[in-house]
Amino acid sequence: MSDALTEKIQRDFDRLALLQPVNWDHNNHYHGFLLQQLSPHCERILDIGCGTGVFTRLLAQRADRVTAVDLSAKMIEVAQQRSQSYANIDFQVADILQWQFPFEYFDAIASIATVHHLPLEVLLPKIQAALKPGGKLVILDLVESEGIQDLVSDGIAFPLNLTLQLLKNKRLRPTPEAIAAWQEHGMTDKYLTRSQAKQIYQQFLTEAQVRKHLFWRYSVVWEKSSPQQLN
Ligand SMILES: C[S@@+](CC[C@H](N)C(=O)[O-])C[C@H]1O[C@@H](n2cnc3c(N)ncnc32)[C@H](O)[C@@H]1O
Repeated sequence: MSDALTEKIQRDFDRLALLQPVNWDHNNHYHGFLLQQLSPHCERILDIGCGTGVFTRLLAQRADRVTAVDLSAKMIEVAQQRSQSYANIDFQVADILQWQFPFEYFDAIASIATVHHLPLEVLLPKIQAALKPGGKLVILDLVESEGIQDLVSDGIAFPLNLTLQLLKNKRLRPTPEAIAAWQEHGMTDKYLTRSQAKQIYQQFLTEAQVRKHLFWRYSVVWEKSSPQQLN
């Protein structure tokens, strides 16, 4: 990852952090699904690319302590303002690729809409080492459509997306400021297809479950083997 690209991503998200929050989007639609994959009580959870902390706060309701890391200082500033009633979240401004992952420390690691910015071959071994045996990884990220099956699913997703935008956000499209900021950011974004994601995750994380979801997202759920499972 070049320094120039990391700086652009940081600038993009400093700008995106200032947008008005929306009730519904393609990420928070899957919060319930992601939470279901985690145990109801964890000691320590890491949130990679926490943004303004919407999911972090949900994690904090089921953990003693949540560490939430983001590259964008503005995102962390907004997240801290919105999380004042949560004493158990430790927000940190850092590039996760430079961050010191503690060894076998977290019961769960979560990341939403972030890992397409990161080289998975570097990140996944760090995550694997940082999870306790029996710990869970949950990832949600953007996916590139492929094949006839995705074409059909996109045909269902488009009208349903408009309906949910209207019902939940009371508008069909994001604000002009949001469209401009996301368009600028999208110029350097690249996403995996489901089959590319499946191949890379299963190469690093044996038996990782990779699923494609309707609103242009894939998820990964993986449990690190505990010593009993290895026997
Ligand atoms: C689309 S936002 C998602 C935020 C949050 N997870 C959510 O669901 O609302 C992606 C976030 O990843 C962060 N990010 C991108 N590259 C990162 C890196 N190398 N280290 C830490 N955070 C990073 C961005 O700053 C941004 O806040």
